[in-house]
Parts: sequence; structure tokens; C-alpha cells
Amino acid sequence: MDLAFKTLVDYVSRESGINLRQYRESYLRRRIELRMKMLGISDYGEYLRLLKNNGNEEIHKLINTITINVTEFMRDRTPFEFFMKVVLPDIAKRKEKVRSNIVRFWSAGCSCGEEPYSIAICALEALGEGWLVSIYATDIDDACLEMAKEGFYRPTQLKNLNKMLINKYFEKEDDGYRVKKFLKKYVRFKKHDLTTEEPVSRYLDCVFCRNVMIYFSEQQKTKVVNDFYNALVDGGYLIIGKSETLPAGFKGKFECINLREKIYQKTK
Ligand SMILES: C[S@@+](CC[C@H](N)C(=O)[O-])C[C@H]1O[C@@H](n2cnc3c(N)ncnc32)[C@H](O)[C@@H]1O
Repeated sequence: MDLAFKTLVDYVSRESGINLRQYRESYLRRRIELRMKMLGISDYGEYLRLLKNNGNEEIHKLINTITINVTEFMRDRTPFEFFMKVVLPDIAKRKEKVRSNIVRFWSAGCSCGEEPYSIAICALEALGEGWLVSIYATDIDDACLEMAKEGFYRPTQLKNLNKMLINKYFEKEDDGYRVKKFLKKYVRFKKHDLTTEEPVSRYLDCVFCRNVMIYFSEQQKTKVVNDFYNALVDGGYLIIGKSETLPAGFKGKFECINLREKIYQKTK
């Protein structure tokens, strides 16, 4: 890392409280240079001066560019269909065997809440009455977590949901939809950095970590997937993004049960 780039990265990490060194250097350079291009700046020193003069506003924009919060309800649709048709019934069957009605999920890198609320909808639809459903939803981005707690979404975010689900789980407002109160109660939002902190919970039945590790180095990915392994019950599920892969070294620990949807099961 050259000095000007290093100084910039350290300054933004200190000011934002987010350790940017966790990201791959090539990725970090691309995202920072994207912001610089938008501002017509071509060297890191000049961008650092602007950041120092411009206070929090530009830092916030840069962090958003780096963490990319793009998401929607039931993103990619088909992994959620498999989750409802295969994963949830299997979890229910195994719980019934041990006479438990508690199911626990973690949406790691939950962005503005679309993923954990989607998990809640799937669980309620597939499991029916009598289950205690608990969903941990974590992200590194404060602003996103605030929006997630608000639970207000534009219609385009809901394009993968049918009318029946929208009417059942959302209140219509002037320019969008708000998640109904009863659905919010299933989800606990918390700020959490996957690359530096311990898992938020143990004995989880399923972890979603979709389109998050794409930005991590191999070393960070290994740390995070190892955390998921330790946080899951035997036979618990891990669902990652369609374009992602598990790091080498997890072959014996997870069995791939759907390669297309990137759904893995912790070996029993
Ligand atoms: C593209 S979104 C994915 C949202 C959702 N999982 C999905 O697939 O639609 C990536 C999210 O990962 C979060 N993120 C990035 N680095 C993180 C970290 N170190 N710890 C926790 N979350 C992180 C970002 O803030 C962002 O909200």
C-alpha cells in the first residue's frame, strides 16, 4: 500500500469507526476511485484534503460506496423458494424430533432489512402456527440499520412478493409500504462487524450471508465462515450469494445441498 492511499484509508477508518483494511485492496481502490471520479479528483492526497474539509458528509458517501447496500425482498427469488420448500420443512422435522418449537436465524449483512423480513415471511408462511421464530439481523452500517428498523420500502423493493404477501405483511402508505408491527417483532437488529466480532448467537438453524463476503479477502472469509460453522447447530444451513463460493478448507464441514442456490448444510 503506498503512503497516500494508506493515509487516506487510515483516516477514513478512524473517522467512520469502520476498519477499511478488512476489504481487499484492489476492491477498496476501485470504490474509492469511483467516488474520486465523481468529484473530478485524480489523486488520493487531494481527496484526503477534501474529506478533512468536508466533514462527515463525504465520509458517509464514501462508506456507502464501499459497503454497497443494494438489496430487495426475496432477492433472486429462487433461493427463498428452496428455503421455503426444502430447508424450512427439514428444520421443522428435526425440531419436532427433539420436541422443540424454537427456530433461530441470522441474516448477516442484512442491509436495510429486506432480507431478515423476507426470512420472517418465509418462516411464518412455511411453518404455520405454534413456532417461536427468532431472527438476528446485523450489519456494519448504522444508517441502513435505522432504515431497517423503520421498515419503510419503495414498491420496487417488493417486486418479488405477490399481492397476497404484500397485503398480509405490509401497510400501504402514500409512496410505499411499511412492514406491519407484528412482523417486526420477529427481527432483532444490531450493529455488528463480521470480520472482527464474535457471532451474535449460537444454536442457529440457518444463517443467510448473501452478497456480503464478496468484498472480503480470503482470510476474512475464512474467519467469517468459521464463525458461521461454530454458530450453527449440527445439520444447520448456510445460504450465501449466488455468485459466491465458500473458501477452500470447508469441504468436510459443509455439504452443498443446492449448488445453483448456494445452500450448504453443516455436516452432522
Ligand atoms: C449488497 S448488501 C447485501 C444485503 C443482503 N444480504 C442481500 O443479499 O440482499 C451487503 C451488505 O453487507 C454489509 N457489510 C459490508 N461489510 C460488512 C461487515 N464487515 N460486517 C457486516 N456487514 C457488512 C454492507 O453494509 C451491506 O449492507
